Amino acid sequence: MSDDHDHHDGDEHELRVSKIRSGTVIDHVRGGQALNVLAILGIDGSEGEEVSVGMNVPSDRLARKDIVKVEGRELSQDEVDVLSLIAPDATINIVRDYEVIEKHRVEPPEIVEGVLSCPNAGCITTSGEPVDSRFEVLEEGVRCDYCGTIVRDEIAALIDT
Ligand code: CTP
Ligand code: ZN
Repeated sequence: MSDDHDHHDGDEHELRVSKIRSGTVIDHVRGGQALNVLAILGIDGSEGEEVSVGMNVPSDRLARKDIVKVEGRELSQDEVDVLSLIAPDATINIVRDYEVIEKHRVEPPEIVEGVLSCPNAGCITTSGEPVDSRFEVLEEGVRCDYCGTIVRDEIAALIDT
């Protein structure tokens, strides 16, 4: 595969986050969202996961980007769906033997079920009833299907971990 095309990344004096052998590279994450990406993936370092994170590195496509590289792990569709809400420009690169063998953009789903928790304490999904959360994905934000609560900016805070 080609070297990085992002500004500076391909410059050997400026390599920030080393290549991985096999796993997933989540690239073009909005600057400042890398820790939320880790939260979505349930990565807190406690399980010995091998993870590299670049924050606010220069990028051509975005002014600044974050990048998360996870060794030995592929992502589930649920994880990718939630990622798309906080990192709509992200690319998911699957790496095997140091080569990118698959690359795709994230795409916001229409509905996310069971992964976010409604911030409304009076919502049936947070009342202890066995009802899975269900949010409709809007242009900007998400809306609880049960109580109508809309969350725009703090979606990451709703992630069930
Ligand atoms: N990468 C990595 N380890 C590898 C191969 C690639 O960490 N063994 C990373 C690169 O550093 C880059 C991303 O995966 O951040 C995508 O790699 P590649 O497709 O080679 O780079 P670009 O062509 O620049 O990607 P794009 O066009 O998506 O910007
Ligand atoms: Zn609700």
